[in-house]
Amino acid sequence: MLAKVELHLHLEGAAPPALIRAISRERHIDIGRIFDSAGNYAFTDFWQFLKVYEAATSVLKTPEDYCRLTRAVLAESAAAGVIYTEAFISPDFCGGRDVSAWRDYLAAIREAADEAERQDGIVMRGIVTPIRHFGPEKARETARCAAETAGDWLVGFGLAGDENVLKPKDFAWSFDAAREAGLRLTCHAGEWGGPESVRDAIRDLAVERIGHGVRAIEDPALVDEIAEKGIVLEVCPGSNLALGLYPSWRAHPVHRLRERGVKVTVSTDDPPFFATTMEREYAALAEAFDWDAGVFDEIAKTAAKAAFCDAGTRDRILKGLEKTNA
Ligand code: ADE
Ligand code: ZN
Repeated sequence: MLAKVELHLHLEGAAPPALIRAISRERHIDIGRIFDSAGNYAFTDFWQFLKVYEAATSVLKTPEDYCRLTRAVLAESAAAGVIYTEAFISPDFCGGRDVSAWRDYLAAIREAADEAERQDGIVMRGIVTPIRHFGPEKARETARCAAETAGDWLVGFGLAGDENVLKPKDFAWSFDAAREAGLRLTCHAGEWGGPESVRDAIRDLAVERIGHGVRAIEDPALVDEIAEKGIVLEVCPGSNLALGLYPSWRAHPVHRLRERGVKVTVSTDDPPFFATTMEREYAALAEAFDWDAGVFDEIAKTAAKAAFCDAGTRDRILKGLEKTNA
């Protein structure tokens, strides 16, 4: 199995449905009808997906819950061949943006990450992510939590949620604070918004990576700009297909973006929601575009080079890729 590097994974979005069901039963919390008859998360479009995501997340109420969640998520990732993962984590869900509570959640997530690294060899780092539709004021509080805990484990700052709500510049204060604290920057854009949304994120937030970014393909000049600036796209093809952004794997722009010289990487976004894993992404891409092991190795190396971790960790990851994928 090829070794993989994943840069775009929402921690709660990776929660196995069985874990969410178990915790909701233990707590006697009724989260409503968020599962289908097979026990998978059920939703019909992106906006309903966000509601189901937040309902599932609402059962996670303590640092210990996040420790369990992180262990479960990393076990799945490691089983799919992932050797390094960057996960989006949100003080909104972890302690309600209170810095002291956030520290406790973060410690619990790190404890689980350390255990997974010892047991399965997978390395995890965190990216704090405010939720766009929660608004700029909450994002500012989130940025304060991030700045207080920035370091060798908490390495990045991003922006998730509904891309059609507000503009990147509404979050500039938070991104500036995160940058000043030494965090590296990414932002969801070009998923539900068009090329303008990607342009805004690059211009107004000075991010070095874009979450998704695939709709840049609709503007050739923007594709050139992304390639020239070396901005890395965290592409999640299976997520885009599951949410109806493209009708088929062959219609997905990841191959064309790569051919145009854009640095593309591959991630799963919210794997159980979209019935995917890194293994499934690789298999579908190989079939749709005839990508061979050489292409996947290049993509994994691009991801390792674009990872927000320190240089020593990056070297370790690159060596891991060489060892397994050579
Ligand atoms: N949160 C979880 N998954 C997301 C996605 N694909 N886009 C925006 N916000 C998200
Ligand atoms: Zn995402």
